[in-house]
Amino acid sequence: MQLTNKRVLITGAAAGLGRDFALRFATEGAVITVSDIDESGAQAVAAEIKAAGGQAHALRADVTVEADVARLVADAVAAMGGLDCLINNAGIETIKPVTDISEAEWDRLMAINVKGVFFGCKHAFPHLAETHGNIINLASAAGLIGWPLLSLYCASKGAVIQMSKALSQEFREAGVRVNALCPMVIATDMGSRFKDTYEKEYGVPAGDMLDARQGRLGRPEEVTAAAVFLASDGASFVNGVALPIDNGGTAG
Ligand SMILES: NC(=O)c1ccc[n+]([C@@H]2O[C@H](COP(=O)([O-])OP(=O)(O)OC[C@H]3O[C@@H](n4cnc5c(N)ncnc54)[C@H](O)[C@@H]3O)[C@@H](O)[C@H]2O)c1
Repeated sequence: MQLTNKRVLITGAAAGLGRDFALRFATEGAVITVSDIDESGAQAVAAEIKAAGGQAHALRADVTVEADVARLVADAVAAMGGLDCLINNAGIETIKPVTDISEAEWDRLMAINVKGVFFGCKHAFPHLAETHGNIINLASAAGLIGWPLLSLYCASKGAVIQMSKALSQEFREAGVRVNALCPMVIATDMGSRFKDTYEKEYGVPAGDMLDARQGRLGRPEEVTAAAVFLASDGASFVNGVALPIDNGGTAG
């Protein structure tokens, strides 16, 4: 097992990639705080982990509310006896032409995708400094290259990548690593929404676009495998990386 007794807090963990991180990290020996704005979904994931013999508990938090995140981190540390890894995973997408994006949509997406990551890093850092832990931020291949209809999402994920790189420098002396994961389109609810919205609302053949860029849809476990590595002691000298998980989609 690669994460024995690591204490891990995951946001947005009721579904999709966050849920996959929680389940797999638990099988690697980690203790998990499963957090989401969807409290019953988070509780269901924690129950699934416990039923399989792992250690987990669920806490509700909205990552856009600083008081929620501060309380979440404090409660997770109290429940687990410390913190070794924070995964800032909660995120949403907006798929539409820039001319159709409202100010409210801009503010909402930026609040979840960027401000939520800021709150997580800010409040977890003092605890991670005690354990020489690490942070994994969910960015995206959309933070590395441009996509039509994703200007707002791309802007948010570019911000997450740059925040991660800056904090890798700022936190290095304290022994806290900060890395970003940059998946392309992965088979989660969000991945399906990308594909469906392109096709149904805008008539863009998303299958062709995916084939051209990444060959096929990625699987959640292919992102999770990279997260396990980054969270592990084996990645002790890996810091400030924005790791594409895209079958070469951003390489050519
Ligand atoms: N699926 C993909 O293709 C893909 C690709 C690249 C990056 N990502 C990123 O990975 C992360 C997870 O994506 P996913 O595909 O699992 O998405 P998802 O929509 O399947 O799940 C997102 C989870 O975040 C939670 N959430 C939403 N708003 C929240 C808030 N304010 N506070 C707390 N939790 C909140 C939701 O309840 C949900 O459980 C996101 O940051 C996303 O941008 C996904």
